[in-house]
Amino acid sequence: MAGRHKITVVGAGNVGATAAHWIAAKELADVVLVDIVEGTPQGKSLDLAQAAPIDGFDVKLVGANSYEETANSDVIIITAGLPRKPGMSRDDLLKTNSDIVGGVTDQVAKYSPNAFIIVVSNPLDAMTQVAFVRSGFPKNRVMGMAGVLDSARMRCFIAEELNVSVENVTAFVLGGHGDTMVPLPRYSTVAGIPITELIPKDRLDAIINRTANGGAEIVGLLKTGSAFYAPSLGAVEMAEAILKDKKKILPCAVYLEGEYGISNLFVGVPVKLGKNGIEQIIEISLTNEERAALQKSAGAVQELIDVMGI
Ligand code: NAI
Ligand code: 2OP
Repeated sequence: MAGRHKITVVGAGNVGATAAHWIAAKELADVVLVDIVEGTPQGKSLDLAQAAPIDGFDVKLVGANSYEETANSDVIIITAGLPRKPGMSRDDLLKTNSDIVGGVTDQVAKYSPNAFIIVVSNPLDAMTQVAFVRSGFPKNRVMGMAGVLDSARMRCFIAEELNVSVENVTAFVLGGHGDTMVPLPRYSTVAGIPITELIPKDRLDAIINRTANGGAEIVGLLKTGSAFYAPSLGAVEMAEAILKDKKKILPCAVYLEGEYGISNLFVGVPVKLGKNGIEQIIEISLTNEERAALQKSAGAVQELIDVMGI
């Protein structure tokens, strides 16, 4: 019998601990939770392990402040870093989080050289590029989670607007995870019907705007941190698609080499996720306006890469 899968989650804060929770509840894999703060990953893992008899999930949960326990993980989810505070842009986090993500990547790559890396730390696209460069892993094994979250936000708002099941709603958000992200109403549907036929333009514009500012809306409400339930589940959906070889089409930040006219840069586009990680980059046709918006968004990511000099 094949053994259980193993997922390491680095950063035992809001996103990381909640990711561990979703993984355990889905019985997807054993989990190693790592953080620099002594006691936090151990305490949260123990608490979660004690929930197992109640819900009946059989996964092993371990907390650690170093990386030995992470050896031979199938998937690594990196959430280590600082979250946004009110008034702070994702890009303000650039320097601090690139040092953190770089250091974490060195460790996880050393102990799990065959793993898939899913980055969540912000600024997302740039941090994924840091993990790609520092790990030396092939491009099919390094990806960033943002599009799943941004699309889920848009789906949530569309379902609310039309009073329909979220299960009927698909939505597409491309580009970098920032103010310039590109929600694509033409490719967003309710039970196959394009939302452009169901929602008047002014309401649609409001949904697009709310989606692009979805992270800031939650920071403004929480005041002491940023969103974590949906972000952590977005990362777990990607891990699940890989571990179960689902061949699922999801918007992910991936390394582009000419696709969509973008080169040597991580940007969010639709991809197929399966047992080989990113198995296909799907190029959908864009209008001139949509293409220009994607280029602008990629330009914003490129600026960060230039600042970091990687
Ligand atoms: P948090 O502050 O609750 O947790 C971060 C954890 O990272 C803390 O426990 C901290 O001790 C730990 N940490 C810091 N340096 C570390 C290191 N070198 N090694 C191991 N652990 C380390 O923050 P939260 O809310 O969990 O957010 C985590 C990151 O995810 C932030 O950068 C945030 O901006 C980003 N984020 C990204 C989203 C996306 O869509 N890509 C959505 C939500 C959050
Ligand atoms: C979000 O979109 C903060 O990037 C994070 O919620």
